[in-house]
Amino acid sequence: MSSTTTTSTTTETPKVLRLRPKVDDAMPLPPFEYAHIFDEANYGDWRDELATKGWTVVKGAVPRERALSYRERMFEWLESFPLGFKRDDPSTWTNEHLPVHAKGGMFWSYGLSHESFCWDLRQEQGIIDAFTKVWGTDELVTSFDAGCIMLPGRTDVKDDQPWEHMDQSRHRRGFYCVQGIANLNENGPDDGGLMVMTGSSQLVEEYFDTFGRTYEKERTFGAFDYWMFSDEELKWFENKGCKWVKVTAGPGDLILWDSRALHYNVRPKGEKDRCCTYICMAPAKLQTEEDKRIRKEAFEAERGTTHVPIGHVYSRAFTPSVRDGKPDPLDTGRPRDRIPQTDKILKLAGIKAY
Ligand SMILES: [Fe+2]
Repeated sequence: MSSTTTTSTTTETPKVLRLRPKVDDAMPLPPFEYAHIFDEANYGDWRDELATKGWTVVKGAVPRERALSYRERMFEWLESFPLGFKRDDPSTWTNEHLPVHAKGGMFWSYGLSHESFCWDLRQEQGIIDAFTKVWGTDELVTSFDAGCIMLPGRTDVKDDQPWEHMDQSRHRRGFYCVQGIANLNENGPDDGGLMVMTGSSQLVEEYFDTFGRTYEKERTFGAFDYWMFSDEELKWFENKGCKWVKVTAGPGDLILWDSRALHYNVRPKGEKDRCCTYICMAPAKLQTEEDKRIRKEAFEAERGTTHVPIGHVYSRAFTPSVRDGKPDPLDTGRPRDRIPQTDKILKLAGIKAY
């Protein structure tokens, strides 16, 4: 596994941070039985990197050729919209010819979360095995998260500024979730992908204990398990020695990161497209009744969720997507095959008990 450091440590002192005494102003949440699993790095495998760096790459979770065939299916999906997109014609790699997306390639609507290639990837044994290793059980439920296709050389992307965040509530203590990216193309230092702040996952709690958890405004788009960091706050982490890293991976590798690790994504600087889906699994037994209700509703309506499969599940009720200020009729009116109601899918979806 190789990586490139893109931001070096700074010795500047943050200027705007409000210094508070150590204060426990966290919202009371039920104790989480897995909160301490990454307190120490004593596994002797890639879980040690999750504990120390906050991220890792599980090589070959999906066989390479199959990963590349999933990439083909993602492009077929993009071409299936009546917008004129052609993977071989860069003049069509523009907003006008693409379904609505964010950050130059993050798609979440149009039922993408329930396309057959997304479900096939979630059923890949190597991916299930990786999450089984994290949680110590193979009785897992999956998120209904979607995917990303970032095309190189685009000049019409307006929202590609960094958005350094973590996908965990500042009120949680300890480990809560591991997120995954099923990487489907060669992904080197110049190819678009995940930027992660190495070492930040272990410092988040100290940060909020020092500066407090009470803010005038929530810094989330709506999900409970999300927090956006300011430039001043990032400096605190950099001063502690954390470094931004562009994660590199091959087709079929599974990138995993602790949801406390600060991260964002970048667009390709080179010539390759970035292609991946987001997959996150957690023990089925940790679902609350409310989680089950939301997830069943999302599954039946073919809507997506964010990464969190358990506790404060956030279903993206963003459909239909808005294009030019109007709801996009392509979103709700898309013909799709029904999700196969197999035993494995229904269990992963949380519809059927283990
Ligand atoms: Fe994220």
